[in-house]
Amino acid sequence: MANSKSVILKIKRQQTPESKPYWEEFELSYRPGMNVTSALMDIAAKPVTRQGKPTTPVTYDSNCLEEICGSCAMLINGQAKMACSALIANLKQPITLEPFTKFPIIRDLAVDRSVLFENLKRVKAWVPVDGTYDLGCGPRQSSEMQEEAYPLSNCISCTCCMEACPQFNDKTGFVGAATIAQVRLFNSHPTGSALKKERLKALMGDGGIQECGYAQNCVEICPKELPLTKSIAAVGGQVMWQAIKDLFRT
Ligand code: SF4
Ligand code: SF4
Ligand code: FES
Repeated sequence: MANSKSVILKIKRQQTPESKPYWEEFELSYRPGMNVTSALMDIAAKPVTRQGKPTTPVTYDSNCLEEICGSCAMLINGQAKMACSALIANLKQPITLEPFTKFPIIRDLAVDRSVLFENLKRVKAWVPVDGTYDLGCGPRQSSEMQEEAYPLSNCISCTCCMEACPQFNDKTGFVGAATIAQVRLFNSHPTGSALKKERLKALMGDGGIQECGYAQNCVEICPKELPLTKSIAAVGGQVMWQAIKDLFRT
């Protein structure tokens, strides 16, 4: 820190997906309650480096500013975090900002995280309903079921768990913890369970649940504290039973 009222940020930048990354340093005035997103907004308002060189505003994703949309995930001091809830006062300076490493770069801190949405499609992470006519009320869920499902519904698709997972890489093609947690959520739903078998089959084979090495990085990093390892164990059991059933049917 240059003085107690300033904030030093070192930001890894990259103009295009193909170009070489480089670092730029910024010095900002500290304000109480400042977070990483508001610091990036300050840079956008006055894009000048610490050395006084005019530059371009830093590209990053952001939307809700309250840890709900999941868009602002990045590496902050080397750790996957949400920029909108990362308070500057809690971060060691100089603060380094880098894009996620496991996803294709778009520009600067913005990456393409569509692989998560493709994985969610692969496991049919939805409740199948025909919305063309009024179906009336769905089956009732007990409060115990609701209590188990609610934490899983808090996933904000930020992909922090995938960035932190040693098994989530090009070699394994592993779907990652977030997708498995959503399989648990939709398999436990009285109507959603109609697709249970298809979801479990989608988690067998290459890139499936068996790729998980149970390193538990995911559960430690998740900003919404989803019970990820518990979900992996629960869905792992469901996949195993499905495989046994399939074996006796053939
Ligand atoms: S338990 Fe480990 S290997 Fe499995 S999803 Fe979580 S971080 Fe990845
Ligand atoms: S499970 Fe947690 S870390 Fe993973 S995408 Fe959902 S909210 Fe983010
Ligand atoms: S801006 Fe939506 S989670 Fe940070």
